Amino acid sequence: MADTILVTGGAGYIGSHTTLALLEAGYEVVVLDNLHNGSSTSLDRVARLAGKPATFIKGDIRDRALLDELFASHSISAVLHFAGLKAVGESVREPLRYYENNVSGTVTLCQAMAHAGVFRLVFSSSATVYGEPSQMPISETFPTGVPTNPYGRSKLMVEELLKDLAASEPRWNIALLRYFNPVGAHASGLLGENPNGTPNNLLPYMSQVAVGKLEKLSVYGADYPTVDGTGVRDYIHVVDLADGHLKALQAMATRDGVNVWNLGTGIGYSVLQMIQAFELASGRPLPYQLVARRPGDIAECWSDASLAAKELGWKAQRGLAEMMADTWRWQSANPLGYAD
Ligand code: NAD
Ligand code: WQD
Repeated sequence: MADTILVTGGAGYIGSHTTLALLEAGYEVVVLDNLHNGSSTSLDRVARLAGKPATFIKGDIRDRALLDELFASHSISAVLHFAGLKAVGESVREPLRYYENNVSGTVTLCQAMAHAGVFRLVFSSSATVYGEPSQMPISETFPTGVPTNPYGRSKLMVEELLKDLAASEPRWNIALLRYFNPVGAHASGLLGENPNGTPNNLLPYMSQVAVGKLEKLSVYGADYPTVDGTGVRDYIHVVDLADGHLKALQAMATRDGVNVWNLGTGIGYSVLQMIQAFELASGRPLPYQLVARRPGDIAECWSDASLAAKELGWKAQRGLAEMMADTWRWQSANPLGYAD
């Protein structure tokens, strides 16, 4: 019988693409999502693309009784844990919400997992846990640093608590996946990123400028010590990222304890290079202005992706042109996102 995977946050951006990849690979999937920032429409579309649905449970990872019931009624072999809040600016204004959701929520989830005898967990971490490294590219051997905001600190705290947990009980089998900058959308144009309100991240902001929802892009800082003065990041296509989760899940079957893998492409692009690539893919000019640096931003951040290549047999396949074309297809076909 196929393994059943619990995907927390499976109605969100990365979770929905990963749910699709799991279904396509033959897994059974149970999604738990409170729909705070996700949409049940995304799961309807996942079912359409996969030809079969995931089981959807609307609920919260902080609800222990619900989790106990979920684990009792489904034979879960592993948990992919995407659920959490992710808006950096909001985390500065409302830190307790972030610690409660991201840290306490993970504690409750792990308690329920242990109670149910489920010890395999894949956690959505972030390159933000490296802080501001003095050298590029960033490899997993680098020490974690000081994230510049409560969101980032919540990710680092969860990493630490999961390491403590694994040290206390050898049955825990945990992957910490440190994503670089997820972008793009499913090639069908049916799944993509659906930000609430004005986007904070570069790609959703650029797409909303291109469709005329926003007037122009502000480029945060043109005086960084980078190729053209603007910030450099390692953008990774969300479908490649989803695939990385499947590869991690497979690799964990033969590994113990805690494993850390960067999920990035190993290539950095500047904001101006991103604008140029987006203009090319969309065929539209992208009005922008150069403004001051955004507090908390670092100059550059890209991954050494060799460990995942070696240990997971995973390498990002999709280049910048594809990331932009897929983002644009999603944005133009769904100007209001999932609109629910
Ligand atoms: P997202 O907001 O689209 O998805 C998160 C999902 O979790 C949403 O559907 C939301 O409704 C749900 N959720 C939030 N709190 C919940 C709770 N308490 N109980 C149940 N469901 C809850 O975000 P995403 O971009 O898909 O990110 C997924 C994960 O990856 C997050 O943990 C995020 O921190 C992490 N991550 C994201 C990025 C990025 O740039 N997108 C980068 C690094 C790490
Ligand atoms: C990318 C580049 C900006 C918006 C954040 C989180 C991180 C991770 C991913 C999430 C930077 C520039 C952006 C704009 C701009 N986590 N930019 N104008 O800051 O690398 O990472 O998202 O869960 O933890 O911090 O991503 O997309 O916001 O910015 O010039 O309107 O684009 O300065 O150089 P970032 P981003």
